[in-house]
Amino acid sequence: VYRGVLFSLRHYCKNIPIKLRVSEALSGAELGANVKVQGWVRSVRPQKKNLFLHVNDGSSLQSLQVVGRAELDDPLLTFGSAVEVSGVLKKSTHQKQPFELEADQIRVVGTCNPIDFPFKIKERHSLEYIRQFPHLRCRTNVFGSLLRVRSEATAAIHSYFKNNGFVQIHTPIITSNDCEGAGEIFSVQSSGPQDVDDGNFFSVPTFLTVSGQLHLEVVSGAFSRVYTFGQSFRADNSQTRRHLAEFFMVEAEISFTQSLEDLIKVIEDMFRSATEHVLAHSAEDVDLFHQRVTPGHRATVDAMLKKSIPVITYTEAIDILKRSSENFDFPTDWGCDLKTEHEKYVVKHCGNLPVFVTDYPYDLKPFYARDNQEHSERTVAAVDLLVPGVGELCGGSLREERLDLLRARLEDAGLADTYSWYLDLRRFGSVPHGGFGLGFDRYLQCILGVDNIKDVIPFPRFVQSCLL
Ligand code: 4AD
Repeated sequence: VYRGVLFSLRHYCKNIPIKLRVSEALSGAELGANVKVQGWVRSVRPQKKNLFLHVNDGSSLQSLQVVGRAELDDPLLTFGSAVEVSGVLKKSTHQKQPFELEADQIRVVGTCNPIDFPFKIKERHSLEYIRQFPHLRCRTNVFGSLLRVRSEATAAIHSYFKNNGFVQIHTPIITSNDCEGAGEIFSVQSSGPQDVDDGNFFSVPTFLTVSGQLHLEVVSGAFSRVYTFGQSFRADNSQTRRHLAEFFMVEAEISFTQSLEDLIKVIEDMFRSATEHVLAHSAEDVDLFHQRVTPGHRATVDAMLKKSIPVITYTEAIDILKRSSENFDFPTDWGCDLKTEHEKYVVKHCGNLPVFVTDYPYDLKPFYARDNQEHSERTVAAVDLLVPGVGELCGGSLREERLDLLRARLEDAGLADTYSWYLDLRRFGSVPHGGFGLGFDRYLQCILGVDNIKDVIPFPRFVQSCLL
């Protein structure tokens, strides 16, 4: 009896199909076994004897070829429909795809009317076109690749910090400070029955964070290497191809940092390590961009990784702009902000490669930047990384750790009371330190060569637009 039960159990288990992701099936996992794959149809080709399907579940750019008897065809089996396919995974004769699923059952789980569906089979849609369908664009090959690269790049950045002894800190989204002091802040108000004091839930004015820097600085007073990676918000009224109202920023803070060179080294190492990781681990998805969407961009990325990134001062950048024969829209006098057109020109001047620009005028940077007192012109120890096609990718600085200088600067700005806690950090065990913030969405634009920032984030938020 025991043997009989065991035999039936074995027989029964053998016939339960093993659930596989498309990526697993594509690599030949469970070859010869009875398997089940679930996904969305990317192509249907009914032929006289056989039916050919391609099924994708987001685990890979490639779709799995499914071959079945012609009788398995179903009018509901259309491009975009959701299916569950069971059968045996076999070797195929196709060189490009060594394994295929020989189906004995195809079940349509969710239908899709191909006439109404905005994407058409075998058509290549532009990024602008698919951007109109934020709720559906993940069904396209190109946006699928983008999302996988985004996820891999996120992992690469976390692993860079982990491997280099940084501790991740969850900095808050709701805050009572405007770190950058630029006034581009979204206010936070409560509503509903729990309303306290006319919507002022926290009893102080609160905002969505523009940067986690000040909170990181708090923790860097006890942990010498910290980072955060999350959303930042800016009520930036500019409709440009590199600004979002909600974007992702990677920020790090490093204590006992004596010079900008130390900071620059970390930024460059992180940039290089994350990019090499993405190129190696998301090769197929990156290639889709470099070959089809932004042809020629791979050469730029390879050139970016070849040499170490040059460093010039703001004063040298101004000299470069002054010596150019370009007709800029904005002034290029010492003390003026570097606008996108200036950043682009400086990058071009440096061989269309990334460049660090350091030592900006005192008045251009926020209160926390460290005063370069030894310089003849009044500058601060700040650094921006400019990259081809995007302009400013990363901004950082040494922080003013000297209590008297910081207090004077905050008093001048009328902020000494608001930032009394920040002054305390300089009172109790202050050390030279510095940090930076890298715009993650701009980073993806930079490595993939994507022109518009709205095409590298799943749900873009920008002025006059918050779809979904
Ligand atoms: O230069 P920013 O404003 O620096 C800071 O916020 C510092 N507190 C960071 C720090 O030192 N911890 O912003 C850093 C980067 C920019 O270089 C840019 O890449 C990105 O954030 N960024 C934006 N990206 C998309 N849309 C916007 N509106 C952005 N504003 C800044």
